[in-house]
Amino acid sequence: MEKSKFLTSLVVLILLLSCVNATMSGPKRPKTRKHFVLVHGACHGAWSWYKTMASIKTTGHKVTALDLAGAGVNPRQVFQIPHLSDYFRPLMEFMASLPADEKVILVGYSLGGFAISKAMESFPEKILVAIFVTALMPGPILDAATIFNESSSGAIFKLDNRLTFDNGLANPPTTFIFGPKYLASYLYPLSPIQDWALATTLVRPIYFHSLDEISKEIVLSNKNYGSVRRAYIVAAEDKILKKEFQQLMIEKNPPDQVEKILGSDHMPMMSKPRQLFTLLMRIANK
Ligand SMILES: *[C@@H]1O[C@H](CO)[C@@H](O)[C@H](O)[C@H]1NC(C)=O
Repeated sequence: MEKSKFLTSLVVLILLLSCVNATMSGPKRPKTRKHFVLVHGACHGAWSWYKTMASIKTTGHKVTALDLAGAGVNPRQVFQIPHLSDYFRPLMEFMASLPADEKVILVGYSLGGFAISKAMESFPEKILVAIFVTALMPGPILDAATIFNESSSGAIFKLDNRLTFDNGLANPPTTFIFGPKYLASYLYPLSPIQDWALATTLVRPIYFHSLDEISKEIVLSNKNYGSVRRAYIVAAEDKILKKEFQQLMIEKNPPDQVEKILGSDHMPMMSKPRQLFTLLMRIANK
């Protein structure tokens, strides 16, 4: 009697364990598997998407977070990136390597908006939708150089941000990096302090490209860039790209869809990761 009770318990336990194992063995593949490609902002890297990557992975969709040149764990050094085309190369090579029949959801954040704009111009047929997350979004009226000038001129010289002038003080700066205080006050004020701490250890300098270089490299056409479905996600409490400036870019170059994240600082992937993930999925599924 005792023995059969024991055996029954054992069988039940094994069944339970196998259920747990089935749910732990990873997400089911969704019927139509999407591929999200995430592009970071200035001085940041693929690492800044760690929460978004985890959320997308859990749904069974595919996710690739890239390091642009000299960012994250990319082996290039800042002086090896004098041209914007050098900076964008990892994304361009990745887009070129995609199979002809694969369309990705291309997500650009902050300065990453320039990188995805270039990719939209070069590979429009490989993009299902381009999503600008509180990003620089150039267009025919407000071009990339104007947007960069407007958004950077007030920001770069503040607090403990560091610029180098390797061609002499009479010339424009050569490199730029965010300081810990500036990160805390302007990028991460509404984000968990752990994410700020992570950022202070991982940011790397970017090459400070001239407005001329930006104008030459980011040339967008209606035929290519204009043919890609486009969405914008506004970060409402952004202290770098202010809500009004985000609205101006939207107004001058209207995307197909506009969404907003309330209570987000300049780092929606850190301060409002769940809301950002939900919006990315909603836009991708439209
Ligand atoms: C850049 O911005 C500054 C300050 O707003 C402005 O005075 C200057 O004319 C702008 N330069 C260009 C080339 O747009």
